[in-house]
Amino acid sequence: MAHIVATRPLLDGALDALRETHTVTVHDPDPSGDRTEEDLIALAAEADVLLSVLADPLTERVFAACPHLQMVAQYAVGVDNIDLDAATEHGVVVSHTPGVLTDATADQAWALLLAAARHVRAADQYVRDGHFERWETTVLLGMELADKTLGIVGLGRIGQAVARRALGFGMDVVYHNRRRANPTVERQTGARYVSLDNLLATSDVVSLHCPHNEDSHHLIDAAALERMKETALLVNTARGAVVDEAALVEALGEGEIAGAGLDVFEHEPDVHPGLLDQDRVVLAPHLGSATTRARRRMADMVVESIQAVLQGAESVPHRAA
Ligand code: DGY
Repeated sequence: MAHIVATRPLLDGALDALRETHTVTVHDPDPSGDRTEEDLIALAAEADVLLSVLADPLTERVFAACPHLQMVAQYAVGVDNIDLDAATEHGVVVSHTPGVLTDATADQAWALLLAAARHVRAADQYVRDGHFERWETTVLLGMELADKTLGIVGLGRIGQAVARRALGFGMDVVYHNRRRANPTVERQTGARYVSLDNLLATSDVVSLHCPHNEDSHHLIDAAALERMKETALLVNTARGAVVDEAALVEALGEGEIAGAGLDVFEHEPDVHPGLLDQDRVVLAPHLGSATTRARRRMADMVVESIQAVLQGAESVPHRAA
């Protein structure tokens, strides 16, 4: 019987299959905020399996202090909170949940894109504040998307799903990726490969879908923002630190770009105060995968991976390291 420790509760009943044969301890979120390394060491010191979320810093220090740990099952596709090399060195298997949150996250990118393009936040406030006294000819004019260019940074699963949706809006799609996508993907998405500089200079909307790593840290910095059109919107449903948030606040303030839709932040859960009072910035608390279907399927994958490790299976499904 193994001891499985979850750092947050999942949907009701999600871990029932594991409870039949193992001890499962589920912790409530810490009221003081996201957990620190020390908190995780305290939670996981006796655990065989840790069920983690993207806010849990799983560093070399945590792995070194948790000698029983066989596995980290990450309830997310992104694993940038986990030191994968340290996990491997300490013999800890890491799994994640790719694929099942693709559509949910692509939908969220589009929700933010449309909200920023059509001033949905300001329009809602306008009505609530009682300003809707007559139909106006010039109030809250937005950007029409047909014939505009959508620039996708990172044409992986989610980037492709965002591109496919753009076809329905009549947008021209360009993309930049570390490696050029294969011709089938380019044909299905209608996306054209360009350099990052070209994408930034020509896109009316730039949407980020690359993982966060050393290469993509602050990929969108002051210089990149300066290259964008003054009328352009930035959408980020990837990871906050792909954008230099202070530079973004500056660029919005200076009118170097027109607005942004942000689901992720550089120092989550903190949000740069300079983003809070910008009219054309729409904010969400990292909701990319937040649909019941996606979260249920993520839980099923986590359970499947944990069962495989605890049963000593030769190959672990959804393995990240
Ligand atoms: C993930 O799974 O990495 C997403 O960011 C969650 O929304």
